[in-house]
Amino acid sequence: MNEGLGSPMPRRDGRIKVTGAARFAADVKLPGLLHAALVTAPIARGRLVALDPAPALAVPGVARVLTAADMPRFAAVTTPPMATAVQPMQDDVIRFEGQPVAIVLAATPEAAEAGAARVAARYAADAPLLFSGERAEVPSRESFYVFEEPDLARGDVPAGLAAAAHRVAARYHQPPRHHNPMENSATLAVWEDGRLTLHTAAQWTYGVRYGLAGALGLAPERIRVLAAHTGGGFGAKGYTWPHQLLAAVAAQVTGRPVRLAYTRAQMYTMTGYQPEVAQEVTLGADAAGRLTAVRHASVSNTSLTDDYIEFAHAGSAGMYATPALQLSARMARTSLNIPMAMRAPHEGPGMFALESAMDEMAHALGMDPLDLRLANHADADPSDGRPWSSKKLREAYGEGAALFGWRERPRQAARDGHWILGTGMASCIMTVFRFPASARITLRADGQVVLEAGTQDIGTGTLTIFPQIAAGELGIPIERVTLRHGDTDLPETGGTFGSSSTACVGAAVQDAARKLRARLDGIAALQPASLGAPAEAPEALLRRAGLADLSAEGRYEFGRPFDAAGHAGSHAMRTFGAVFVEVAVDPELGLMRLRRAVGSYSVGRIVNPRTARSQMIGGITWGWGMAAMEASVVDPALGRFLSKNLSGVAIPVNADIPADIRIHFVDEVDPHAGPLGAKGIGEIGAVGVAAAVANAVFHATGRRIRDLPILPEGLL
Ligand code: MOS
Repeated sequence: MNEGLGSPMPRRDGRIKVTGAARFAADVKLPGLLHAALVTAPIARGRLVALDPAPALAVPGVARVLTAADMPRFAAVTTPPMATAVQPMQDDVIRFEGQPVAIVLAATPEAAEAGAARVAARYAADAPLLFSGERAEVPSRESFYVFEEPDLARGDVPAGLAAAAHRVAARYHQPPRHHNPMENSATLAVWEDGRLTLHTAAQWTYGVRYGLAGALGLAPERIRVLAAHTGGGFGAKGYTWPHQLLAAVAAQVTGRPVRLAYTRAQMYTMTGYQPEVAQEVTLGADAAGRLTAVRHASVSNTSLTDDYIEFAHAGSAGMYATPALQLSARMARTSLNIPMAMRAPHEGPGMFALESAMDEMAHALGMDPLDLRLANHADADPSDGRPWSSKKLREAYGEGAALFGWRERPRQAARDGHWILGTGMASCIMTVFRFPASARITLRADGQVVLEAGTQDIGTGTLTIFPQIAAGELGIPIERVTLRHGDTDLPETGGTFGSSSTACVGAAVQDAARKLRARLDGIAALQPASLGAPAEAPEALLRRAGLADLSAEGRYEFGRPFDAAGHAGSHAMRTFGAVFVEVAVDPELGLMRLRRAVGSYSVGRIVNPRTARSQMIGGITWGWGMAAMEASVVDPALGRFLSKNLSGVAIPVNADIPADIRIHFVDEVDPHAGPLGAKGIGEIGAVGVAAAVANAVFHATGRRIRDLPILPEGLL
């Protein structure tokens, strides 16, 4: 099999993952290790009045209780790589339920937990601040999280609406949802000779290094971050969170290695979540279905301390051709922990609203929902008129519709016993994020190749894809390539988020391999010619030249450190697609099932069709969770998340997902995205699914559900 670009290589880490042989941050053991347990505030807002560590210190095995008084004052940090600008245990102010107020250190995890339960703390509580669209604020452009314009206007929306033959206007809402990765976040921190080493669960090893360097006032080179395997992230491990900072400080104060592993409940308050989002979409269209105006406004909740915002209009800015666009994003402060980017941030929530509204418009027009999308296909970026770097959305619609049998579907909802079957579709769009990356390849005289990059792996296939690219470029079997990764001693890469790793780190790997080949060619040219001899294996050439090994370093960069939404350059860059679903509804029991789905995507070159398909099935599964199950309910009296465990928060399992999910990629190379011609794909699979499901429910039952998730009480 050709093992290079485009080959469906199976995941090399599959066996160690399913057999439990893979070691995660919390699996690392060191002699003299202290286990940390956090004491967290039970109130959403107020002050810590008193804290007595004595009962905890009486627990056998408890070595130390650290409070704010024991902590160094952290330097003011910028976000990212710290997730939030205000660090815990620096003062007595409580800003969210679950905020850490003390660290109990003990010889065993059980003793630490028992000690934490006995720390006596008194609080003065203020009323929690709950989400309210009435208190919407414009986010600060100083915040890293505000990487788009909160307001975008083009053309005359009131005139477009006035001239429209058909108008729809509706409000949509979704609750907060958590990332719920399988691996709880954990850090083991150890100091040696003024140098700090962390074994941690991270989506960005270098980011953790920079975050801690800033907070602790250390040179980044004195911090080594190791993340061999990260057990899922979805954005929950993208930046630097309290477990990393507090473990590092606890290890510094005690002079011993410290392991701090979050409990599952702590994952709900110290790693972020997708915020609550309220949206309003207004569309106008002429009699032929061409949009005359698009207005999309959203409000999402944020914390008391940071301006995290969900740019729910990000998809609307790039999706459809329209003479008039008016987009706005606002935030409303709550006394909850900071929300965070979660798989398919921005477009994920936003396209639920836009694509539901488009279905409402298709119904108002009596038009096939797919034809309405085709009639409004944007041949250039609707927000600024730039040409696309590449776009084959028409093909994605057509090829996806054919796979699904969209044109042949029953126009009236079909029946299957108690079940009513409905079909629905939606467009998908996603921002293309890119980050610079470096990689090094070393060929040894024994024929083995070592590929090195600091990049972490969150289980998306990169441990296969990077060796695959190297093997393909060097023309050697992948078995000869060993990958070393997850270590800030290795060449710098960006975060594994924003669907960026394959395209960006992959480009650096390809560059390193090409440079290595060029060096080998240079060596060959210096050797005595062996005319007519068969092509020499690279390692044989190395031996003949008397070299033990040969290395080359590759780089991917594009002039700007952070390129959101393809803002840089002459072309607008996005990924596109369409999702088609068949949903069964039992109106007597309020049940809903996903029967089948087709996802068809225009996303640039596919580097590994097997891992790519797996990503998209994961995305559609994620979208089903958004449509039908997930809600992190906030208790209105206490201002905290109500069910901080996996038995209280429903997420899809295998039994929820049918075997009949078909994934299709249009044959495409994006010449502007980078040397691989690849763009990110990890997140677009989750976009549009909730709208397609809601549209199918409308088709099946005539009910338009605009509040997620779609639960039995909404279907009865
Ligand atoms: Mo994803 S929200 O970019 O980890």
